[in-house]
Amino acid sequence: MTVSPGPTQLFIDGEWRDGSSSATIAVTDPATGEHVADVAAGSPDDAHAACEAADQAQRHWATTAPRERAETLRSCWSILMEHQDELARLIVREEGKPLSDATGEIAYAAEFFRWNSEEAVRIRGSLGEAPSGSNRILVRHPPVGVVVIVTPWNFPAAMITRKLAPALAAGNAAVIKPPRDTPLTALRIAELLSEAGVPDGVVNVVPTDDSSAWFDAAVDHPATRMVSFTGSTEIGRSLLKRSADRVLKTVMELGGNAPFVVFDDADIDAAVSGAITAKMRHSAQTCTAANRFFVEAGVVDEFTSKFATAMRAIKVGNGFDEDTECGPLVQAAKLDEVEQWVGEAVTAGAEIVVGGNRREGPGNFYEPTVLGNVSADDPITREEIFAPVAPVITFTDVDEMIDQANDTEMGLIGYVFTRDLAVGLDVSERIQAGMIGLNRGAVSDPAAPFGGMKQSGLGREGSTDGIYEFCETQYIALDY
Ligand code: SIN
Repeated sequence: MTVSPGPTQLFIDGEWRDGSSSATIAVTDPATGEHVADVAAGSPDDAHAACEAADQAQRHWATTAPRERAETLRSCWSILMEHQDELARLIVREEGKPLSDATGEIAYAAEFFRWNSEEAVRIRGSLGEAPSGSNRILVRHPPVGVVVIVTPWNFPAAMITRKLAPALAAGNAAVIKPPRDTPLTALRIAELLSEAGVPDGVVNVVPTDDSSAWFDAAVDHPATRMVSFTGSTEIGRSLLKRSADRVLKTVMELGGNAPFVVFDDADIDAAVSGAITAKMRHSAQTCTAANRFFVEAGVVDEFTSKFATAMRAIKVGNGFDEDTECGPLVQAAKLDEVEQWVGEAVTAGAEIVVGGNRREGPGNFYEPTVLGNVSADDPITREEIFAPVAPVITFTDVDEMIDQANDTEMGLIGYVFTRDLAVGLDVSERIQAGMIGLNRGAVSDPAAPFGGMKQSGLGREGSTDGIYEFCETQYIALDY
């Protein structure tokens, strides 16, 4: 499949630049192992230059009328949708997900611009009276300034736009570090946003092969006021520590370990279809992926057997093949980890109901796998699996199951399937997670608050609140 890789240089101040060193990043296709492109690898000096450009550009962008920013964001939505197929193919090439998922990702990514074009003109403030009656209290929400955006490879487009669109809507400028594995989509998006009218310097994209030095330089730039990150909890912790040195505002969208609960009274076919979505969406490599399946004893056999049948039917392959539903794992090293976790679970008494093997190369493919009879404290239940492996745990006692579901430092999302709405809401409220799918296997929506409790993150993305993460709050005590 011939797909143009698009730009491969750094995008700083509206210009394509070579990196200040000659280092490059090799992008490979995870389905074939083929070399796709070499991308300029930005140095700390390049990160600094991008922050400098963002600082200058933001001063003007912040003074534009909200309506003007809204119209620009609306044009960004249009241009991404006009290039939906081209961008989707680029995602498949560098990330490997099926073309249908990649096409859906571009619509999802673009929607953050449309949603935030509507929010740009609705940033609220307030005017109140001090209780003493002595003065007025005026509250407004100016932009933060320069925002550093660091994103993962599993959604090469949408994880950028989920941060970038509200940041721009509020009047900020951004310096983006795209993922090392998938920088091409980010660079092409930057080119399109520029065509759509985003002023030079407002969006800068600087890939790097030395994330830590890059991040240090970006954090230390005096104009940088905020870090927005999506990725693992482990990396999030270290970025938080580093951001603390300059007391930067942060939004962290970190790891998950989602429980997926099926009660005896659930519509089992709906639960199986929800389980396939929650587990297998985007080749099972999402932080919202169902990670532990708690199934009530009365339906565990029926659920497991139907779930296994549905998993067996999933076509694994190259994302460009028309019928592919699950692509490769993006990182080859993951195959070894998954093999180890599955092996340990089996040694501890789990049963492989379907799958359980890697596929011989080329490409990093693992079979959709269902493990039955898994113990709630098996090591695999502690890991964010990020691969098509579904451990099923039987439960009989609801309180005990909820304790087990909550026995994790993560709290991003949970799923509950039952026909009894009272039980569904009660269990949803008791699961310690920022998002719940109640009789649904997908929750992501630019109009809804995305984010986690506990060590799954800080702050929320999307919804009417998301834009305020990219704003300061200023109070003016006012006499007139
Ligand atoms: C993620 O996996 O990081 C995001 C998933 C989503 O937006 O649905």
